[in-house]
Amino acid sequence: MGTSDNFYLKRRSVLARMMSNKDIPEKDLEIILAAGIRVPDHGALNPWKIKVIVGEKLKIVDEEIILSEFKKQNPDADQLQLETESRRLQRAGAVLAVISSPVEHPKIPEWEMRLSSGAVCMNLLSCAQSMGYAAQWLTEWYAYNEKMLEYLGGDLKKDQIAGFIYLGHKKEEPNERRRPDPQKIISYL
Ligand SMILES: Cc1cc2nc3c(=O)[nH]c(=O)nc-3n(C[C@H](O)[C@H](O)[C@H](O)COP(=O)(O)O)c2cc1C
Repeated sequence: MGTSDNFYLKRRSVLARMMSNKDIPEKDLEIILAAGIRVPDHGALNPWKIKVIVGEKLKIVDEEIILSEFKKQNPDADQLQLETESRRLQRAGAVLAVISSPVEHPKIPEWEMRLSSGAVCMNLLSCAQSMGYAAQWLTEWYAYNEKMLEYLGGDLKKDQIAGFIYLGHKKEEPNERRRPDPQKIISYL
């Protein structure tokens, strides 16, 4: 296979606000989720959880958590801001919340467990994109909100939201974005 055919050399995210939020067929969601938990994981500790948010739950989280928390933190917000916050998750057909949930271990550092959560996010994203879906990895402000973490079943003492993987349908192909200069990043020892 020539390098130009390689999926990873063309893979690109689609902004959540540019995707169509029709449902994601369940059989495709199952494939994406199976790929998401098929990641390197030192000690097979599975130090992550995925919460699948679809259908009416997207609206419920938007209104009961995101909008409500935003209002608390921004009492002077204008109408436009409130509208944006009231439909964050509803930009997608499905949102996969990845929660990093490290465990106590005598040898394996927590850092490695956190990295493995990033791998879950990236596998979910890449798998969805390989199937032609529009997908984006976002944290935005509400990934750092305690009410959100609690609502998703996270343990406030140790868990963290690694990301929300937004899944939708493409309305158009995304443009390429600026990519790093390999010479500034990669060198041979
Ligand atoms: C952990 C993490 C959090 C991110 N959070 C945001 C965010 O809150 N808002 C945003 O505009 N982009 C965010 N991004 C960047 C988007 O995912 C963006 O679509 C991505 O960098 C595009 O890369 P690609 O075209 O190579 O897929 C985040 C990326 C990562 C890895």
